[in-house]
Amino acid sequence: MSEKLRVAIIGTGARGTHTFGRLFSKRNDVEIAALCDTNSVRVRAAAEILGITPNFYSSIEEMAAAEKLDGVIITTPDCEHYSCAKKALNAGWNVLIDKPLATNAKDGKELIELAQKSGKTLMIGFNLRHSEVLKRLKSFIDDGTLGKVFIAENREFYDGGRTYMARWNRFFSKTGGLWIHKASHDFDIFNWLLGFPKPLRVSSFAAVNVLDENHLPFELEEGKKPGPDCNHCPYKDKCKDKFLLSEEELKLWGDKAVAEDGYVKNLCIYLSEKDNHDNGLAMVEYEGNIKVSLFEDFIGSKSDRIYTIGGDKAVAEVSLHNQTITITPRWGGEIVTYHVQIPPGGHGGADPSLVDTFCKVLRGEATSTSTAEHGLLATALGQAAEISRREHRMVEMSELL
Ligand SMILES: NC(=O)c1ccc[n+]([C@@H]2O[C@H](COP(=O)([O-])OP(=O)(O)OC[C@H]3O[C@@H](n4cnc5c(N)ncnc54)[C@H](O)[C@@H]3O)[C@@H](O)[C@H]2O)c1
Repeated sequence: MSEKLRVAIIGTGARGTHTFGRLFSKRNDVEIAALCDTNSVRVRAAAEILGITPNFYSSIEEMAAAEKLDGVIITTPDCEHYSCAKKALNAGWNVLIDKPLATNAKDGKELIELAQKSGKTLMIGFNLRHSEVLKRLKSFIDDGTLGKVFIAENREFYDGGRTYMARWNRFFSKTGGLWIHKASHDFDIFNWLLGFPKPLRVSSFAAVNVLDENHLPFELEEGKKPGPDCNHCPYKDKCKDKFLLSEEELKLWGDKAVAEDGYVKNLCIYLSEKDNHDNGLAMVEYEGNIKVSLFEDFIGSKSDRIYTIGGDKAVAEVSLHNQTITITPRWGGEIVTYHVQIPPGGHGGADPSLVDTFCKVLRGEATSTSTAEHGLLATALGQAAEISRREHRMVEMSELL
């Protein structure tokens, strides 16, 4: 292995450029040797933003023919994860896929088999596991403070979720549904906190209640049509949900890039066509009578993940946003609130920690703890929740795993 790790980023959009690109380019033990994106404007804009001079590719096949790499990061839309990971593993590279593993369990299983055959690492970008708050919560479960956990809840409020409706994330065909795209993080956190009990069955309800044409946050004026995107919208000064692209973002998603592939980053979230939900509830039953519920609100009042974890010795209540964990013991013991310090960096310091772990894995100094098998479990739970909401039935996990 070369002294500097040679990595490539496949998919140079938001995560590829602003998260992984920035984090890798700041490290002196890593060289971003190549960038690969189907959009030639965006891939060059990414290099300009990062101030690097990598080789550019528009396909993994071309990159595989030319580059010796220690590892690649896949940050394409979810629907491309399967084919990109397959090509990357076949090229003999170690792979980090930003969550989710795939958009359905069948593709996920195939990737696991392929990774096993290739002998390469296939790691999933479950950055939430690197959250200091959730690591501390897990320590209270692992050291027995809560006793035997039998029930858990996560209420997620995500104001950035509104912008799902502005981009590819709004479509089932691109994501497998938001129960996979977004909730694979959260299903993985439940699995990880609880020590990976076997999930048995899932049910869910989800819908669009607010982000549709009936809820435009301004009065329409005669002859003035809103949209199609925020930068071009005549109501952009009035709209409370406008998402205007900055100068830097216009390099990645401006008219020149759009002319190539038609991908608009900031469509009107109310008028865009969509078939994914803006809010929902899902429940999972695990073996051992353990139950969890997940509440998702992408309408945009606030951002937080609020957990309640019930054990037979104590209950833990957590706010990721406030960085607090409150433990209330059974039978009237002292109630203690812990304030957890978090390091700088995206997602409460979790993104740099994820990147650091991937680098250690590439150097053989660590093994991946967010494995493809964990990715499959989270994807399958999300797929079950999607089937449940669309078919109005409870889904047995044995249908998918
Ligand atoms: N872990 C997290 O916290 C987190 C947060 C946001 C997004 N994500 C994940 O990151 C991934 C990327 O999301 P994003 O918001 O950055 O997307 P994005 O739309 O900003 O960027 C995707 C890029 O992939 C490119 N692309 C599409 N198909 C390609 C292909 N076959 N080969 C190469 N490039 C291709 C597009 O041109 C675009 O530049 C998604 O899988 C998403 O689920 C993870």
